[in-house]
Amino acid sequence: MIIKNICCIGAGYVGGPTMAVIAKNNPNIKVTIVDINAERIAAWNDSDLSKLPIYEPGLAEIVKDIRGENLFFSTDIDTAINESEMIFISVNTPTKTYGKGKGMAADLKYIELCARNIAKVAVTDKIVVEKSTLPVRTAEAIKSILHNTGNHINFDILSNPEFLAEGTAVEDLLNPDRVLIGGESEVAIESLAKVYGSWVPQEKILRTNLWSSELSKLTANAFLAQRVSSINAISELCEHTGANVNEVSKAIGMDSRIGSKFLKASIGFGGSCFQKDILNLVYIARNYNLNEVADYWEQVIIMNDHQKRRFSDRLIKTLYNTVSGKKIGMLGWAFKKDTNDTRESAAIYVTDHLLSEQATISVYDPKVPEVKIQADLNYLNTRSKNENKENVMSESSPYEAVKNAHAVVIMTEWDEFKNYNWKKIYDTMKKPAFIFDGRNILDKFKMKEIGFEYYSIGQ
Ligand code: UDX
Ligand code: UDX
Repeated sequence: MIIKNICCIGAGYVGGPTMAVIAKNNPNIKVTIVDINAERIAAWNDSDLSKLPIYEPGLAEIVKDIRGENLFFSTDIDTAINESEMIFISVNTPTKTYGKGKGMAADLKYIELCARNIAKVAVTDKIVVEKSTLPVRTAEAIKSILHNTGNHINFDILSNPEFLAEGTAVEDLLNPDRVLIGGESEVAIESLAKVYGSWVPQEKILRTNLWSSELSKLTANAFLAQRVSSINAISELCEHTGANVNEVSKAIGMDSRIGSKFLKASIGFGGSCFQKDILNLVYIARNYNLNEVADYWEQVIIMNDHQKRRFSDRLIKTLYNTVSGKKIGMLGWAFKKDTNDTRESAAIYVTDHLLSEQATISVYDPKVPEVKIQADLNYLNTRSKNENKENVMSESSPYEAVKNAHAVVIMTEWDEFKNYNWKKIYDTMKKPAFIFDGRNILDKFKMKEIGFEYYSIGQ
């Protein structure tokens, strides 16, 4: 099948960058990204590129280059579906907040809505590609909806999970370790392989069955998250034994069987994927009565929650067992550097805990605006919106955020934090001035020399 038009439903962190890179490398294919959120589409179409809804290094340049050429953003979902031979579904699949599987299973209502919409409007054969991360065997449900409610045309379903990491999305898409395509129809698989083949070497394009593809995505994220929880577990042991987790990471990472990546001890992993995907894995395992398998993976989440909690407990204990009425300066709100995404960021949970202990928090993040910070806290529903607004300030300067603070906490590893004038910061803080470095990015000896009481993870 020759692909001339591609439609992607969902203009988010996955759909936006992925389609931009596909369009850039396939000038003969018209790529249209559609979304039900008109505000988001307007932002993607804004002539001021700093207004794009998603911050990713290198993305604005690609959008600038090809927007209006072969990359389009639109709210006209039906037209885009109709004129495309290939439709990517890239909508969000949050953890359910109600009913059966609440807090564990993925909420597939948006996926189902998309499938029903495609079935309703499509009048020519389509290849439907699952890009969103989904529980194993979701393709079955999509297939059933398409075939039972469609206009008697042929639908081929492919699973093509996304492995990009936020903050390096463009780089990951341009040079992927592998592209995974799962499906039943060889013709459909090869059509998609050809789209990627315009810039990805064929030997990096893996073809599997649908279910292996769906499960591989969950497994990859579970393994990555498990490494973070493993090193974080060791970090607590380091704090009690005098070992240094950075040294332990380096020592074990030089073993080529272990490898050096994903061994940075931290405040705990965040992001939209790790927790959700592991919960999914746990939920599926329990459904098949595989309780040992479920318990094994659940422990990765339990360890992560513990890591976030013990960070704030340690801060409170160190500040003489009370933070009531004390200002805490928080640097970073995003779940990692180089993104404006805050989903499941440790900063949200640490702030919530400190607010319950009556601290006031003053936040600076280079890419996250105040409305987002307030929305993240309000979503937890721990206290009223007014209370959140009164006790959490957002500053546009890091120096303002930490002025008169009893402690500075570092939540995100933004590079700029390393180069601040820390002597100046020290001079404006309450004494003793504490730093809790949740990312181990500052130089311990320099900080101590300036006069700080410096605490980090696993040392
Ligand atoms: C991704 C992945 O696709 C998902 O698998 C992963 O597990 C979580 O993140 P992401 O791109 O990060 O999604 O989500 P988001 O930035 O929320 O974008 C999804 C977009 O889909 C939103 O803009 C939303 O408005 C849109 N949407 C949702 C639709 O257009 N139609 C719907 O029916 C539902
Ligand atoms: C992840 C996967 O890496 C990606 O392949 C998948 O497509 C989506 O989920 P993402 O969540 O965007 O990507 O970022 P990632 O770099 O994996 O980081 C996740 C979290 O783990 C972040 O909070 C990060 O700070 C944390 N982390 C990562 C650590 O704490 N230590 C590490 O060594 C690595």
